[in-house]
Amino acid sequence: MKVLLVGGGGREHAMAWKLAHSPRLEKLYVAPGNPGIAHIAECVDIAADAIDELLSFATREAIDLTVVGPEVPLTMGIVDRFAEAGLKVFGPSREAARLEGSKAFSKEMMTRFGIPTAAAHAFTESAPALTYLADMTAPYVIKADGLAAGKGVIIAETLEQAQHAVREILDERVFGAAGARVVIEEFLVGEEVSYLAFTDGEHIVPMVSAQDHKRIFDGDKGPNTGGMGAYSPAPVMTPELETAAFEQVLRPMIDGMRGMGVPYKGILYAGLMITPKGIKVLEFNCRFGDPETQPILSRLDSDLLDICLASVNGTLDQTDVTWSSDAAVCVVMASAGYPETSTRGCEITGIEDAEGYDGVNVFHAGTARQNGKLVTAGGRVLGVTARSKTVRKAIDLAYNAVARVRFEGMQFRRDIGARAIRRGGSRK
Ligand code: AMP
Ligand code: GLY
Repeated sequence: MKVLLVGGGGREHAMAWKLAHSPRLEKLYVAPGNPGIAHIAECVDIAADAIDELLSFATREAIDLTVVGPEVPLTMGIVDRFAEAGLKVFGPSREAARLEGSKAFSKEMMTRFGIPTAAAHAFTESAPALTYLADMTAPYVIKADGLAAGKGVIIAETLEQAQHAVREILDERVFGAAGARVVIEEFLVGEEVSYLAFTDGEHIVPMVSAQDHKRIFDGDKGPNTGGMGAYSPAPVMTPELETAAFEQVLRPMIDGMRGMGVPYKGILYAGLMITPKGIKVLEFNCRFGDPETQPILSRLDSDLLDICLASVNGTLDQTDVTWSSDAAVCVVMASAGYPETSTRGCEITGIEDAEGYDGVNVFHAGTARQNGKLVTAGGRVLGVTARSKTVRKAIDLAYNAVARVRFEGMQFRRDIGARAIRRGGSRK
């Protein structure tokens, strides 16, 4: 089969790596890809959101299956466009992808289907939003409705900060059209976990749990980032909680969407808060997480290409999806200045050494080739990913590999996976 993968980050490098293992794969194209992906696939110079160009490429090359990594093309309707042209494509339709594309829509669906989540209200005008805030207590959670590249959620400690955030989003439009509405919601306390599933619109196959580390510094300090590391499994997600998440979150959402005539296919990512009162949904995403995909796919023993095809064809119930009992850990190496800025053009060395360890993959995110050298080209540069028998061993292996890699100004957290160890994950 000829496959086109859309995207060019660390998540897509991990997806490309896994797709490349499929015995059914004849040729893998990745648009736009990155220098790491170029070792295992042919990179095509088309941006991930250039849907017209992607469609002409897929038609011209007679692509058998297109797999979409990032949320932007999905919310723009890439799946509808490809399907109209008679092409097979893995992912949710534009309407279904609104579960990520609009936080107000997502809340509406959760309320309609009785899915546990933080109490919330949506506003298009600042005056009623400010009145509503005045009756709430700190901390305040304010979310821009649309996609804001991970920056649209503000947790404000004071009423003044919260009011400021509402005015910035609704009146000053700091997030552009993504801020035409805000959602103000109850602050939840607990531990976060990423719970993803493959679905064909009817059958649901959950993945192994994972936990992301969103803050830039050790001990969950400093500003939020796209994710500084992740590990799987997340011991907070007990078998009982997995069952609850399936019954209370995944099943009602997939059944509900199908019942509304908007079947949801592809990957459904539930960002959950495990609170003393049980599971609550923080958000839904319509795609794999980054960097959770790196450890999650490291543990997938089955063929990812088969699973994607089964999702498109509606045969997920007949498809083998098995996971390794090993643990996996991904440590993100970021460039100087991240997350406010990033540093380009610094030479990266040591990746081959790092990959010399058995069980280690170094997935590229923000890298580029410049005069034959590999250099930094973004905030998150690499995701050093290790799989081993226990989470403790996977952590040690990942950090041994990290120690081989060098570039000027590199920053990484030294405590990825520490929470799993505290919860006794080393015995798993
Ligand atoms: P989201 O993009 O909606 O997942 O929000 C980004 C991050 O903000 C989450 O991963 C949480 O750490 C935090 N967050 C979002 N909503 C809430 C909430 N209701 N209570 C507490 N923290 C939240
Ligand atoms: N790691 C969080 C996300 O992909 O949204």
